[in-house]
Amino acid sequence: MRLTLFNGSPRKNWNTEILLQHVMKGAASNGAETELIHLYDLNYKGCRSCYACKRVGGKSYGHCAIQDDLTAIFKKVEESDALIFGSPIYYGNVTGEMRSFWERLLFPYSVFDMERSSLFKKKIRTGIIYTMAANEIQMKTMGYEQNLHLMETFIEKIFGETESLFAIDTCHFEDYTQYVSTFFNAEAKQKWRQEEFPKDCQKAWEMGKRIIQPIYI
Ligand SMILES: Cc1cc2nc3c(=O)[nH]c(=O)nc-3n(C[C@H](O)[C@H](O)[C@H](O)COP(=O)(O)O)c2cc1C
Repeated sequence: MRLTLFNGSPRKNWNTEILLQHVMKGAASNGAETELIHLYDLNYKGCRSCYACKRVGGKSYGHCAIQDDLTAIFKKVEESDALIFGSPIYYGNVTGEMRSFWERLLFPYSVFDMERSSLFKKKIRTGIIYTMAANEIQMKTMGYEQNLHLMETFIEKIFGETESLFAIDTCHFEDYTQYVSTFFNAEAKQKWRQEEFPKDCQKAWEMGKRIIQPIYI
């Protein structure tokens, strides 16, 4: 089983990557091969609306015609048995890089027919990890789950069932005294990081173990 993970955070070894590393360890404990790809290391842009992936008899039908760093990544996706997408929340949604990646990844597989069928050749498990500074009340008040759900339905349409993990109340920085940040309670943030973030890491580890189970249809 091969699991490919995508880090949609510009930061390495921070909240999002730490959770992705736990997913990798969980999957590896079940014998999976894993690879983590940092989207910010790649050179690409979002969909350019060329519609080459939709052209009747076109040589790029069902595939993205743009040749860039994502070309090799799409090949890896086709060879994967499970995918995990991790992203911080920026202004209520995933980062621009994750969003652009999803446009390029999902659109070619999405058929413009009445069923909106999928050209991806198999059903695979997918998971999404969101990290955010908001606490539970803020997340609910701002409707993040509803905002994010729409994209999850498109991901499900292409690949099959998806699951998500919301890691809330993450720390922005190590030391809140070094930044203008009176909106946040530094002590409460550190407490959450010490006591609650490890629980999210455990959930991520379990997600990794679960995500590489074969799908029996
Ligand atoms: C540009 C920017 C916008 C952000 N917007 C939000 C937001 O809308 N809601 C939120 O809860 N956190 C927001 N955050 C905080 C991050 O989502 C949060 O700290 C996240 O865990 C960072 O992930 P990382 O540590 O992997 O980089 C924002 C951070 C940045 C830099």
